[in-house]
Amino acid sequence: METVLSGIRPTGNLHLGNYFGAVKSFVKMQDEYNCYFFIADWHSLTTHPKPENIRQSTRTILAEYLACGIDPEKAAIYVQSDLKQVLELYLYFNMNAYLGELERVTSFKEKVRKQPDNVNAGLLTYPTLMAADILIHRADKVPVGKDQEQNMEMARLFARRFNRIYEVEYFKEPESFHFNHKAVKVPGLDGSGKMGKSEGNAIYLVDDEKTIQKKVMRAVTDSGPTVPNQEKPDPIQNLFTLMELVSTPDTYNYFNDKYNACEIRYGDMKKQLAQDINAFCAPIRERILAIQGDDDYLLKVAKLGAEKAEASAEKTLREVRQIIGFRV
Ligand code: TYM
Repeated sequence: METVLSGIRPTGNLHLGNYFGAVKSFVKMQDEYNCYFFIADWHSLTTHPKPENIRQSTRTILAEYLACGIDPEKAAIYVQSDLKQVLELYLYFNMNAYLGELERVTSFKEKVRKQPDNVNAGLLTYPTLMAADILIHRADKVPVGKDQEQNMEMARLFARRFNRIYEVEYFKEPESFHFNHKAVKVPGLDGSGKMGKSEGNAIYLVDDEKTIQKKVMRAVTDSGPTVPNQEKPDPIQNLFTLMELVSTPDTYNYFNDKYNACEIRYGDMKKQLAQDINAFCAPIRERILAIQGDDDYLLKVAKLGAEKAEASAEKTLREVRQIIGFRV
């Protein structure tokens, strides 16, 4: 049976980008694959969060994973820092990762630009830690959004390089997985790029109806099309992309036809979009609210997940140590 793994940093609540980029695929896969889903709390240290924020966010994300339908009986849900084996593999990959290639990673370059006072070694080696997360279970498929493509390339590179150096066929190259065969980039509501926590343009799964409505009604639009069938500018395309994700095809086609006929009223479209986002989020929101206070349950889930993950990680490490030449 093939193995699937995915992860998320605990830096706030889950938003629609996380859901459609990664969580949705994962939920669909848990019946057919050997699944691991983890919370990347070590990765979140690159931005130096406060201890209480890590604790709180980890619990929040755990509850939100479960509310989205990830079943702890089927998938191993665990916290990265509970799986110490990852650190050892991270060290091995770092020995074969080169400064030049790590410095060329786009997200690293972006961080250097955004936080010049905190260009730490953890940021530089972010891709090797991510490769260790994935390859510790020798995962075949990794549900991720489009923004993780380069990190996935690096994971494949480190897998290939390990095999080449030690002349083995041990690690498979993990592939990115997308539920509709196309990498997903969920746009934000500010007319620019992707939806993200740090971009301040996100709709969270836990947002209530009023909040969703307010956010959607504020979304950037223009004065409307003037020529039939004209190409949609980015902010408008973003609204349609969101609608495609949460609304029925009939609703999408209705507004698309209106746009193409230059008869669209953005106010109506936004109202419908807000309604459909709310209909989508409402049941998840209810489950989040029901689970998030239940610390005993959340701890039990994380413990069960860590036990399952440990068994698989230990096996990989035993084999890797032997390949590298350590006594076992
Ligand atoms: P993170 O925490 O930024 O995001 C978690 C997942 O959500 C996806 N995502 C999106 N997908 C589509 N559109 C968006 N607007 C959007 N925003 C976020 C991300 O692609 C990701 O799949 N490096 C990872 C965490 C990680 C990981 C791993 C993932 C660490 N180790 C191993 C997979 C496998 C990250 O920062 O994701």
